Amino acid sequence: MWLALDGNGPLYRQAYRALRRLILDGALPPGSRLPATRDLAGESGLSRNTVVAAYRQLVEEGYAEARTGAGTSVAAALPEAKTTPTSSPSSTSRRAIDPGPVPEPRLSREGRRILDATPSRGLSWELPRRHLEFDFRYGEPAYADLPLETWQRLIGRHGRRASARRLAYSHPGGAPELRTALAAYLGRSRGVDCSPEQVIVTYGSQQAIDLVARVLVDPEDRVVIEEPHYSGTAIRMASAGARIVPIPVDRDGIDTDLLRAETDLRLICVTPSHQFPTGGILPLPRRLAVLEHAATTDARVLEDDYDSEFRYDARPIESLQGLAPDRVLYTGSASKMLFPSLRIGWLVAPVDLVTALSSAKAISDTGSATLEQLALATFIEEGALERHVRRMRVRNGERRAALLDALAHELGDACRVHGENAGLHVLLDLPDLRRERVAEFRRRCEQRGVGIYPAAPYYRKPPDHASFVIGYASLDEPRIREGVHRLAEVLGQIAR
Ligand SMILES: Cc1ncc(COP(=O)(O)O)c(C=O)c1O
Repeated sequence: MWLALDGNGPLYRQAYRALRRLILDGALPPGSRLPATRDLAGESGLSRNTVVAAYRQLVEEGYAEARTGAGTSVAAALPEAKTTPTSSPSSTSRRAIDPGPVPEPRLSREGRRILDATPSRGLSWELPRRHLEFDFRYGEPAYADLPLETWQRLIGRHGRRASARRLAYSHPGGAPELRTALAAYLGRSRGVDCSPEQVIVTYGSQQAIDLVARVLVDPEDRVVIEEPHYSGTAIRMASAGARIVPIPVDRDGIDTDLLRAETDLRLICVTPSHQFPTGGILPLPRRLAVLEHAATTDARVLEDDYDSEFRYDARPIESLQGLAPDRVLYTGSASKMLFPSLRIGWLVAPVDLVTALSSAKAISDTGSATLEQLALATFIEEGALERHVRRMRVRNGERRAALLDALAHELGDACRVHGENAGLHVLLDLPDLRRERVAEFRRRCEQRGVGIYPAAPYYRKPPDHASFVIGYASLDEPRIREGVHRLAEVLGQIAR
């Protein structure tokens, strides 16, 4: 007998798996005798000890039985067959070797809504990722700019000093040090008006959005989403069963005249400090209009403040939350200031919602991991976060200037740029490029090493012209200039 070894791990485990496959496949039927260990060792080029160890494993797991003097036989009843609803040997073997088409699982209504709301192209982290030298992907910082030595020191310090109390379960709202540091930081930098008890530390803003949906939104509730919008919010609200009420945005942000025409609202989701993705900064009269309409319709406001530390033409505008702490649920994140895999975000809850939202967090995961929270708390307390943000504002401002200059120089009137005064991306419209040609344009850009990403997924109804979200925070200025140059060359060839 010859064994098809799979090359993974110790030889005896490979032999064991090959034999198990033959047993489950029916090639070695129940009750049949396995070859003598010496024979199998000779035929398969393995040592006898290896085969003996493989047989022992099969016996221990119940695939085979050893009888003194009678060698080893395949078990009469197989362990996996016992757990299979249809116990015929052929169905067991199909399951072990080739799962075949997976039947539709039975899901809850919410489970079905989650699948329905998930884009058919896949979620962003599932999309194939090629290394591109000139990658204008949104949402990436320049990893070389990160204060990783300081970060490493703080993680090391807190890891070494972790007391028993710190290694135990703790409050689902987060480590008290971080909640205190965040309440103070958000007050200073974003005009957020809250006590540490109102701060719930989450796994990114995405979890904050999830908690808000769980606690506030019932199926059929009407939830306002900006059009275009951050898709993470829309997907979560749709999976909660909300009726989405899209309100268009213009160059300043959400159109509050259109908002006022909508009644019976549960939640108004906005990105007032830097509309995502168009980049408008909501002026004060409109801010007040959003809050007034929320008060009139007894709706709450979800303020997603994802990147507003980065404002280039003026001081960052203060949060909506500071104007109406009882009505606004505020979320922010370390993803843009530091790096996304940290997965630390925060939700500032109105006092009356703190218990419900903390309980939702507790039910979800009993609280975020402590070590990174403590490191971030010290990072904030020592002033390192604000220093880093200040430095990054300058660096990203230089990148932004290089991008705007290159776009003006290379594309001139062939492009329109929106939302350049804040954040880490701009929206780039290419009016001469028809929507049908976007895929080809991207392919050709990729062949030249340029990654460029359409804004269409952020629209319920995408515009007729080509529009792209251009992230620039991860590239240096020469790459930004060269990337735009190549993009312009491809556009020249294709738009003609
Ligand atoms: C507008 C907006 N909101 C929220 C998020 C979620 O950020 P995170 O969950 O990483 O904190 C993102 C991420 O890119 C975003 O662009």
